[in-house]
Amino acid sequence: MSRDWTVREYRKTDRVALEGFTCTPPRKYHRTQKRYVYWDGREWEYQAQSLLKAPQLWPGESRVVAVDDTSGAIVGAALWRTRGDPSEVFMPALGVALTHRQQGVAGALIEGVTEFAGVNALSAGAPAVSVTGFVRATNLDMITALERMRFVAVDDQDLPDGHVAYSRDFYVA
Ligand SMILES: CC(C)(COP(=O)(O)OP(=O)(O)OC[C@H]1O[C@@H](n2cnc3c(N)ncnc32)[C@H](O)[C@@H]1OP(=O)(O)O)[C@@H](O)C(=O)NCCC(=O)NCCS
Repeated sequence: MSRDWTVREYRKTDRVALEGFTCTPPRKYHRTQKRYVYWDGREWEYQAQSLLKAPQLWPGESRVVAVDDTSGAIVGAALWRTRGDPSEVFMPALGVALTHRQQGVAGALIEGVTEFAGVNALSAGAPAVSVTGFVRATNLDMITALERMRFVAVDDQDLPDGHVAYSRDFYVA
């Protein structure tokens, strides 16, 4: 299947397209439980979406987006950041629109993160980047995507409860 989307760095002019980005169905009101419930109980999908759509980036943060070639809509996004050391990259969130899953968008976004973070690290004299993400232990879609990209589970002292850290080193020079 030919790709009809392109991965690139987020631009300020993407703001409106980012507002329209959705990677999960809306929450539904559960009449018996009298509360809003998440689709299939996958609350991480909603957390990823709100992190990715945050209108403002903090210092050290960047976004990579997958854009539909025809409509210009954002169909996937990844957020990455460095703190001080440009070779230590953390990826707080990655999400793909339901319409564009199972096409390799997640893999391409991860490649995009390593590419742009790699350029950043290289310009600061670092020949490699280590990319790390925390993922819910029950989020098998994301774990599969990371393992396919040859990320491995690692120990991390900042790991929140119920999460697993996945990491991979990439050489850029
Ligand atoms: C996790 C997530 C990002 C994966 O996105 P995705 O784009 O569907 O992932 P990929 O397309 O790269 O891989 C998924 C499948 O597509 C297959 N695939 C990859 N490239 C393909 C291609 N070119 N053509 C057809 N299938 C392909 C893969 O083999 C994989 O199949 P498998 O899961 O059966 O092994 C997505 O499910 C998502 O957005 N989840 C919600 C947000 C989230 O949980 N984020 C993580 C926490 S921040």
